[in-house]
Amino acid sequence: MTPVEQAAALLSEGGLVAFPTETVYGLGADATDDAAVARIYAAKARPRFNPLILHVADAEAARFWPGPLTLVLPRRDNAKISSLALAGLDTVALRVPGHTLAQSILRAVARPIAAPSANRSGLISPTTADHVAADLGDAVDLIVDGGACPVGVESTIVDLTVEPARLLRPGGVTAADIETAIRGIVVDDGSDAEPKAPGRLARHYAPSTRLRLDAEAVVGNEALLAFGPDPLTGAVATANLSSTGDLNEAAANLFAMLHDLDASGAAAIATMPIPDTGLGAAINDRLRRAAAS
Ligand code: TXA
Ligand code: MG
Repeated sequence: MTPVEQAAALLSEGGLVAFPTETVYGLGADATDDAAVARIYAAKARPRFNPLILHVADAEAARFWPGPLTLVLPRRDNAKISSLALAGLDTVALRVPGHTLAQSILRAVARPIAAPSANRSGLISPTTADHVAADLGDAVDLIVDGGACPVGVESTIVDLTVEPARLLRPGGVTAADIETAIRGIVVDDGSDAEPKAPGRLARHYAPSTRLRLDAEAVVGNEALLAFGPDPLTGAVATANLSSTGDLNEAAANLFAMLHDLDASGAAAIATMPIPDTGLGAAINDRLRRAAAS
């Protein structure tokens, strides 16, 4: 059996399969199977109030699909989706990933697959199969290895159940691109007491080492997450998101470099300022949450 066939067989029997998407690795289970979905929440230690994105192989007439975009839509009353996966909401979050392996698995299994990022709740998202194995290990029945995820930050989430539409999470499709397709979209600044995406917690994507944002110098025994051609000096370990200042390259490197610097034994990780344009908005969102206490 090929890894794709094995993945599809396991998923249709209620198994948990980690698989690559262009954003991050997902932890997949049959979205119509309550017991399988319950295993996702257990493996991630994820709060039950936090619903899951449903992944499907295709959808007609959606401009950004396949790709790193998730749309929140009204739920059909007779939908066969596990209510656990939806955390009791009357909306569903849908995504058509573009990654070849994700596409093949979704086509082979031919049912919606609920898949959060394949990390324990609150920790750094995985962009390699090794990250998944290190974080979730035996809790997963199979990890399909597709190498590093090319985009590297999670999908952009847009809520289409409200008027005007609302951007709930900056991600792999930039706000500028979304604005050309959905005029008047409101960008959620995250200040709501009750965030519209239940999983948008202040602290998330977090390494165990403390993060210090917008550093202008390295202090003490800090590691450095650098950006651009002039990295600060004096760090005990340095990783440069992009020495040419390319935000797409920086996004693709973000989580792997955070994983590496977290393992460096430094007292803290200092991060250099990153422009808030293009994928920079998603990168800064993740860094702010990683730094929150
Ligand atoms: O790129 C991605 O989106 C990755 C890959 C694996 O597809 N998945 C991902 O899933 O990032 P997760 O579970 O780590 O983040 C999904 C976010 C959570 O903040 C959750 O609360 C929100 O989507 N969400 C899910 N269903 C929702 C709904 N009906 N309304 C609003 N937010 C929803
Ligand atoms: Mg996640």
